[in-house]
Parts: sequence; C-alpha cells; structure tokens
Amino acid sequence: MDKMIKTATLSFDGKSIELPILQPTVGPDVIDIRKLYGEADVFTYDPGFTSTAATDSAITYIDGDKGELLYRGYPIEQLAEKSHFLEVCYLLLYGELPDATQIKDFEARVTNHTMVHEQMHYFFRGFRRDSHPMATMVGVVGAMSAFYHDSTDIADPWQREVAAIRMIAKLPTIAAMAYKYSVGQPFVYPKNSLDYPSNFLHMCFAVPCEEYVVQPALAKAMDRIMMLHADHEQNASTSTVRLAGSSGANPFACIAAGIACLWGPAHGGANQACLEMLREIGTVDRIPEYIKRAKDKSDPFRLMGFGHRVYKNFDPRAKVMKESADEVLDLLGIQDNETLKVAKELEKIALEDEYFVSKKLYPNVDFYSGIILEAMGFPTSMFTPIFAVSRTVGWISQWKEMIADPTQKIGRPRQLYIGQTQRDYVDVNKR
Ligand code: SDX
Repeated sequence: MDKMIKTATLSFDGKSIELPILQPTVGPDVIDIRKLYGEADVFTYDPGFTSTAATDSAITYIDGDKGELLYRGYPIEQLAEKSHFLEVCYLLLYGELPDATQIKDFEARVTNHTMVHEQMHYFFRGFRRDSHPMATMVGVVGAMSAFYHDSTDIADPWQREVAAIRMIAKLPTIAAMAYKYSVGQPFVYPKNSLDYPSNFLHMCFAVPCEEYVVQPALAKAMDRIMMLHADHEQNASTSTVRLAGSSGANPFACIAAGIACLWGPAHGGANQACLEMLREIGTVDRIPEYIKRAKDKSDPFRLMGFGHRVYKNFDPRAKVMKESADEVLDLLGIQDNETLKVAKELEKIALEDEYFVSKKLYPNVDFYSGIILEAMGFPTSMFTPIFAVSRTVGWISQWKEMIADPTQKIGRPRQLYIGQTQRDYVDVNKR
C-alpha cells in the first residue's frame, strides 16, 4: 500500500478533520477520504470522477500533461517498436517482461485455448445477420460463463488464471465469428500454426474456397494496434469491469460488461464514429464547416477521435498510429487516400485553432486507427470489436489485480440527493 506522508485538514461548520495524503510512485498525491463520511457525515461530489482515484493499481500509468503512457513502467513507444502483443499481455498480467522460456510457454497456452466450444456457434444463429458485431460480442462473451464453469470460481487463483488465458485466446475468435456472421460467410477455425495477429486476420478474411496468406506487414500492423489499445488505467470500460467484478461476478460476465461500456461513441465507439465523420466531411475544403460545428455549444457535434479526459497533450498512441497509417497505406499501394488527407488536414487546422488549443484537445487513439483498419479491409462496424479484443488483456489484468487485493470490497458510491423529501401516499380519487 502507498506510504502515508502528510495530512490534509478539512474545516467547515466549526469542525476540522485530518485526512491522510497518500503518495504514489509517480503522479499526483491522493487524499484518502475513506473515513470522511464516518467522521464528518459528508460525502464528496465528483460526477464523472474527474478528480477521483477509485483504486490503487500497479499496471498502467498515464501522464496526461506530458502525453506519456507506461505499461508496468515501460513507455508505449518502446513497446510498440520492440515488443509484440502477447509479450505485452504477459507484461500486463504478471508485471515483468518474460524470458524466452516464459513467453514460449505463455504463447503456447494462449494458442491452445483459441477455439470456442462448438455449441457456441449456435449462439450466433440467434442474431440477425445485420446485428452490430459489438452486440454479438456482448452476448457471446457473457455466455462464456455458461460454458466454462471450471474457471468461474474467482476465489481460486488457478481458475482466475485459466479464465484470463481463455479470454485473451478466445476474444479474437469470437470477434472474427461476429464479423463472418455479419457478412454471411462460414466461420474460420483458429490455426495454431499462426501467430496471434495473423490468426485473427486469417479467421476474419480467409474463405474455404481458396488459400488465404496473411501479409506479415499487415499482421505486424494489427499487432501494433493491439498493443496500443491493451490497457489505459481506470477508463470507463475498465472501471465497469472492476465495479462488476467487485460484486463477485464471474470474469466472463465482467468482460461482457466492459465490452458494453466500450461500445459508446464517447469511448471505444469513437474509432467507428471518427471514420464515419471523416467520410462525412469528405474533402479538405469542408473541414472549416465541421470545425465551426465542433465549437458551437448549441450543436451536439464533436470532433470524434479528438479530446481526452486525461491527455491534455498528444495521445502517444495517436502518434504511433499516425506513423502506422502511412506505412500500411503505402504497403497496400493506397495513394491519395482522401480520408487520410482529411484527417491530417483536420488535425493541422484543429491544433492551430484557439478553441482546441485552449481546451487542450488533441487527437486520441481513435483518430487514425479507423483509417488503418479500413485499409486492411475491415468495415467500420469491426473497429470497436478490434478495440475490445485488444483491451481484454487490460480488463482481465485489472480485474485480477482487484480480486487478488485482500482489502477489496464491493463498489457502492453514494449520491447528492435532490429529490422529494418524505411525503404520504394520496389516493387516486384525491389527486
Ligand atoms: C477513448 O479514458 C480513456 O482512457 C479512454 C481511452 C482508452 O484507451 O480507454 O483513451 C479510449 O475513449 C478515447 C476517447 C474517444 N472519444 C472520442 O474521441 C469522442 C470525442 N471526444 C469527446 O467526447 C471528449 O473529448 C471525451 C469524452 C473523450 C472526454 O470528455 P471529457 O473529459 O468529459 O471532457 P469534456 O467533455 O468536459 O470537454 C472539455 C471541453 C468541453 O468544452 P466546455 O464545456 O469546457 O466549453 O472540451 C470540449 C467540450 O465541449 N470538447 C470537445 C471535444 N472534446 C471535448 N469539443 C469538440 N470536439 C471534441 N472532441
């Protein structure tokens, strides 16, 4: 637990309370208010948790002012350049980079869990073909708890470990199945001879009628996208997973809750919304019209892929993603991609505009990812499922950290009640 260094004094209504200040290894100090209500009979008020640390954690750290992101202390830029997704999964889950034997064993364990129970194929039949793949994923991932009973006892560390491996291994298979179902093609089974990103691309794009060979450069780009999305502190979907898990719900149900939350356009759904926005803008000459709308308080339109609760500088993931977009489009021989041109010009104009500068709004992880995924052949509806596949390791790592914490208790916020005071029932004939 963090060491206590000093206290904060809260004085009001003639009373005064000393609150411990806890110090992190890096980042802002926190005022420990756990005893506040018991001793001073008041709540704190922080809708949206803009100033609230809901937990301590050793997994990921973000410095929003500097635009830094660390997974277990390692900068995302170094991992994106030198590591690979399953190694990042190991790092997030266990806290250290694996040695050669450990990563070989971990990759073998994940590979051997990539198939889903054959009975799960029938789940998809219950959905309309035009269902959004996120709807299918929420349903099918939640249903995993109906199949994998031998890894739902959260009190058993081994079952928690098995659930984590199963989720990391099976989410790509389920996402690929959701895609295949939506395009009316047969499911493609995982191939153990392929690495993780190649296997995902193969399950999405292979068809029975011909050999599908994964382009290594595209697999590498997909692997990098997965690393960039793997974890991100206590974002909305991770907080959802933690809150669901705090009641003792099984890990599959918790991850399904995280997928549901990620779907929102203010969160993981922004990658789909951003590409649709760039398409709607269409050409560079129409950018000023949309910048004007984004600044107009009476217009609900916002620049999707822009802004962030924590980053008040460039999202380091957006920088890596922007470089990757150029590489992938070059590799695929896609010149003059109008959407990329609009994205780059929109970024340039916005970053010179007083409104965005004053509010410290920069491109976030979702601004360029859709351009890459579309170039790879994915429809916009698959962008957020791919985010969910990548974030599963972050969700499950944070969930494991919480469940293993002996001081963990159910999350139960209070409120500022602004409703009616007590009043008596009135019969309908007297109203
Ligand atoms: C992700 O939390 C995470 O870590 C999330 C994530 C992860 O990896 O898990 O990083 C992934 O969700 C990235 C964010 C994807 N969402 C979008 O791109 C949607 C567009 N962005 C906005 O909706 C918004 O920026 C949020 C939701 C991301 C952040 O919202 P906040 O922190 O609640 O900020 P805010 O709404 O209070 O905005 C502050 C000001 C407001 O103006 P004022 O009321 O102060 O006058 O900035 C304005 C906002 O109107 N603003 C924008 C804007 N984002 C904020 N104006 C125009 N366009 C935008 N995109």
